[in-house]
Amino acid sequence: MSTPSRYIYLDHSATTPVDARVVEAMVPYLSEHFANSESSHTPGQTAAAALEQARGTVADALGCRAAEVVFTGSGTEASNLAIRGVAWSSRQSGRGDHIITTPVEHHAVGNTVDQLRDLFGFQVSRVPVDEYGRVDPHDVAAAIRPETILVSVILANNEIGTTQPGAEIGQVCRQRGVAFHTDAVQAAGRIPLQVDAIGADLLSLSAHKFYGPKGVGLLYVRHNTTLVPAITGGGHERGRRPGTVNVAGAVGLATALQLATEEREAESARLRALRDRLIAGVVTSVPGRRLTGHPTERLCHHASFAFRDIEGESLVVNLDLARIAASSGAACAEGEPEPSFVLTALGLAPEWSLGALRLTLGRSNGEGDVARVLEVLPTIVDHLRANE
Ligand SMILES: Cc1ncc(COP(=O)(O)O)c(C=O)c1O
Repeated sequence: MSTPSRYIYLDHSATTPVDARVVEAMVPYLSEHFANSESSHTPGQTAAAALEQARGTVADALGCRAAEVVFTGSGTEASNLAIRGVAWSSRQSGRGDHIITTPVEHHAVGNTVDQLRDLFGFQVSRVPVDEYGRVDPHDVAAAIRPETILVSVILANNEIGTTQPGAEIGQVCRQRGVAFHTDAVQAAGRIPLQVDAIGADLLSLSAHKFYGPKGVGLLYVRHNTTLVPAITGGGHERGRRPGTVNVAGAVGLATALQLATEEREAESARLRALRDRLIAGVVTSVPGRRLTGHPTERLCHHASFAFRDIEGESLVVNLDLARIAASSGAACAEGEPEPSFVLTALGLAPEWSLGALRLTLGRSNGEGDVARVLEVLPTIVDHLRANE
């Protein structure tokens, strides 16, 4: 097996590199215009103006009002604020205590609702998903009770790439007067994110998933949705997220989101063609494999598989030796020896669900990268099976 000099990065669902145009937009707010956006002096006002401009750029991309955008420290924090914020506000007003979610959420949502259940006495229902990880909006409608305060459904799954019928779920929630939160962290730049079309009252994003910097996210909060802040402190972000605002991060997030929105159609068509070639190639050339997630209702850059009787982590290590970065599931879940909870929720037996492999394409990838995976993967699988 010859070793090519270029390392091929196929883990864009874990994180993406920061776009040079984003770095350029951020640098002035790390250096010259470093002031605190809360300060009333002139440098502070310059920082505040940049922050509000970034908020306006985000609002244009999401089709919402600038005042509905809350900058946070991550996608995880955005979902924590959405879920705890609605839960605690409902508790305060005595509105109800029931939350509906799914078994295929990222831990940012799953662990947050579980903590609300275990420590604060909220009731949690998880609607089932089908073999592809899709939620049926009718199941959401059937699960809503008079005391339901929130529905939280991931818009596009990080492990299996399946996208959800967000607009239909949003419509159910609107009709029943229940707040709808969606974790759209994997969706930005890949599917349209107009909050009214989705019917979302709350929507979480994270800049590092769409060529922006790490450590900055946002929560869209519809104007009539009341939140109690998930962390306490000062009055930043209109009292919804205390802490000195990361102005350079907000500028970076806004620039990255604008670029991702402008370039989405062309780039997603390009990636979809590469993804389809990758999926077809793996399915044809490797025995004992299956595609995980939906065959068509999936993210344009996302290919995920399960290989019978192989450990996903061994595949990742061997691909790394062949200078290809892949993932065996959710990046945050790596190191856990148990089968992926997402694949288990899909009904996969352990001999399959332990062998998860995720290959996620991005701007740096081309046809040669797909060809390289298809050249090395069948041999790696054969070798691992022979040595089990
Ligand atoms: C679907 C989903 N939600 C939330 C997160 C967490 O985002 P962050 O890394 O900004 O906390 C991730 C990151 O892997 C994700 O894929």
